[in-house]
Amino acid sequence: MEILTLGNELLRGKAEPIKTINDEIRAIADKMIDALHDGKGVGLAGPQVGLMKRLFVIHIEGDTPRVFINPSITATSPELVKYEEGCLSIPGVWADVIRPRELQIQAWNEKGRPFTMDVDGILARVILHEYDHLEGVLFIDRLSAHKRERLLARMEKDRRVEKARQK
Ligand code: NI
Repeated sequence: MEILTLGNELLRGKAEPIKTINDEIRAIADKMIDALHDGKGVGLAGPQVGLMKRLFVIHIEGDTPRVFINPSITATSPELVKYEEGCLSIPGVWADVIRPRELQIQAWNEKGRPFTMDVDGILARVILHEYDHLEGVLFIDRLSAHKRERLLARMEKDRRVEKARQK
């Protein structure tokens, strides 16, 4: 499974609801979990692998992999918190992002069972990041324009250096 990177238009699209949770969806979720492990990431959403469906997978340390299908964020706390984020679609870029500390999510798992979770900490953070991907939003969109430009300029520079090194 190839992970799309910044500049690919699919990352800016809105994902569609999944109508049936079947073997095909389960196979995709499994492959996404493998891609997540290969990339040493903590979360991966459908659009990042070119699948414009409302599905993401999360695997944080000390937890089992989790699959979220057709998720809705049903509540967020007024308290905000700053965490450093990165993204498999924006390699080499990390930045502090401010988001709600806690949330409630309603979704379906890979077995087709609905569930509701109240979460905080890292899991809440990863859920909010992955949910954004379903709406075509990337974490760099949530930074100030100044900070975003600075990070992207540095990323371009690193890319040029890497290209020159490979010649
Ligand atoms: Ni991401």
